[in-house]
Amino acid sequence: MFYLTTAIDYTNGSPHIGHAYEKVLADVLARYRRLRGDEVFFLTGVDQHGQKVQQTAEKEGVNPATFVKRTTKKFLNLWEKLDVRYDGWAETIDERHKACVQAILTTLQEQGQLYKKAHSGHYSVRQEQFLSDRDRDESGNFGPEWGEVIVIEEENWYFKLSEHTAWLKEYLETTSDAVLPAFRKAELVNALERNSGTDLCISRPKERLRWGIEFPFDPDFVTYVWFDALINYISFAGYRAAEGSELPDFSKLWTADERPVHIIGKDILVPAHGIYWLCMLHAMGFKDEEMPRLLVHGWWNIKGEKMSKSLGNIVDPNELADKFGVEALRYYLVRDITTGKDSDFDLERLIMLFNTELANELGNLCNRALNMSQRFTDGVLTLSGATTEDDLTLQQSLAESTAEYRAAMDEFDVSRALQAISRHVVHCNGYAERMKPWELKKDPAQADRLATVLYHLAESVAHCSVLLSPVLPEAAAKLASQLNRPDLLDLRFGDLSWGLLADGHAIGKPKPVFPRIVIEESAE
Ligand code: MSP
Repeated sequence: MFYLTTAIDYTNGSPHIGHAYEKVLADVLARYRRLRGDEVFFLTGVDQHGQKVQQTAEKEGVNPATFVKRTTKKFLNLWEKLDVRYDGWAETIDERHKACVQAILTTLQEQGQLYKKAHSGHYSVRQEQFLSDRDRDESGNFGPEWGEVIVIEEENWYFKLSEHTAWLKEYLETTSDAVLPAFRKAELVNALERNSGTDLCISRPKERLRWGIEFPFDPDFVTYVWFDALINYISFAGYRAAEGSELPDFSKLWTADERPVHIIGKDILVPAHGIYWLCMLHAMGFKDEEMPRLLVHGWWNIKGEKMSKSLGNIVDPNELADKFGVEALRYYLVRDITTGKDSDFDLERLIMLFNTELANELGNLCNRALNMSQRFTDGVLTLSGATTEDDLTLQQSLAESTAEYRAAMDEFDVSRALQAISRHVVHCNGYAERMKPWELKKDPAQADRLATVLYHLAESVAHCSVLLSPVLPEAAAKLASQLNRPDLLDLRFGDLSWGLLADGHAIGKPKPVFPRIVIEESAE
């Protein structure tokens, strides 16, 4: 079983293209793994507790429960619109999740992994957090961003994180795919060097924060939001689920032979996932071979800057989908970024990539394959002609692109996979221009040659529709149905050999699938 999760999004605001990218990436990878023939479980959801939610709800004058219901809906609607098809949906206010967090806390407490301690220190009233010397400015003061800073003493519950960091170092050293891509692991190892002596405060006193999961053995405290949120990956996978619950069977999802993959952004690798989560799992008794793989993606920035409310540069995926279409947005989000690295969101590139790779190149190929077959051979594909060197080279190009696509997708690099498809499409268009079916048509003696050329183009479209289906499910379905083979999308990767379309197969009526985006209209 391939168990894939994303980070769960904070519900203190609205989704932006960063959130959308992560969920589309996960959706594409889940669909690809199904195409490979794997059994897949894809979990995503929302992070509904914590200080930020409580504060935003207060500002808006509603109780946090009403507030998170409202914001959660925005995420649910967007995923539906973007055709993100998940198998499990995580909401941290779910009673089943709460029960799991509480069961874990109780066990850790019984095993002596938790302790209660008073901490005295500088506390920012505005940011509602304890400050350390690292938060002081060059002159040794706490800057104005912290607002009023007071000294307080507070009791809290701690998790003995420091007892697991030696193990974590060793685990990271010995496990090549613990963090992907590899360069992200170096950041984690460095952070661990600086961080290994401290324990993790996992509670908040109720006077300070009410909106959280209550400690089962100390009701004056609620659980720190990260400790609660990270557990979603196992609670919604059925870990310690009640008898008869509808949650999945944990032992089937969380397996050593195909370790789970958590897709997360680079900002939440250190310390949350790379340190806290792996140590929490270790404390719960998970073995090295049961540790999840962390697939860390980069960020979408705007003109080199972080997207933020204060800069007013947040890009709304709903607007983009309405304006350019869901599939143009899906394509851009996974095509113009290399998994792991950052990228600059650029509307002109969205339009350019759609127009060149889909509307022009692929659109042209489909038009040639389908339209010319309709016009020149009544839509019937035949294989009676001899195969030339050019035909064999085209078949070779398809085989190479398919192999490259597969290797790239297996490495979670969707952009490279899409570029591999594009290379074959460009090859096909070059082939069509050299073979000139429109000229062959004029000479009845070339009827067999004409049929062979059109066959090669149509067969390529058939393969492309299958390969593109994880990214562009709707366009792929349209192409398959125009080829009169809707069942193409039930094929598995292993079925993709030359000859998907049979001798004598009649294709359907062609209709443009990728209408050009007209730049004049969009550049207001
Ligand atoms: N709630 C926590 C995650 C808890 S997981 C147990 C959180 N939420 S978030 O809403 O701030 O971010 C959700 C995901 O979106 C994270 O993986 C984050 O890295 C990702 N992104 C947020 N902004 C992003 C971009 N600008 N670009 C790409 N991904 C970004 O963190």
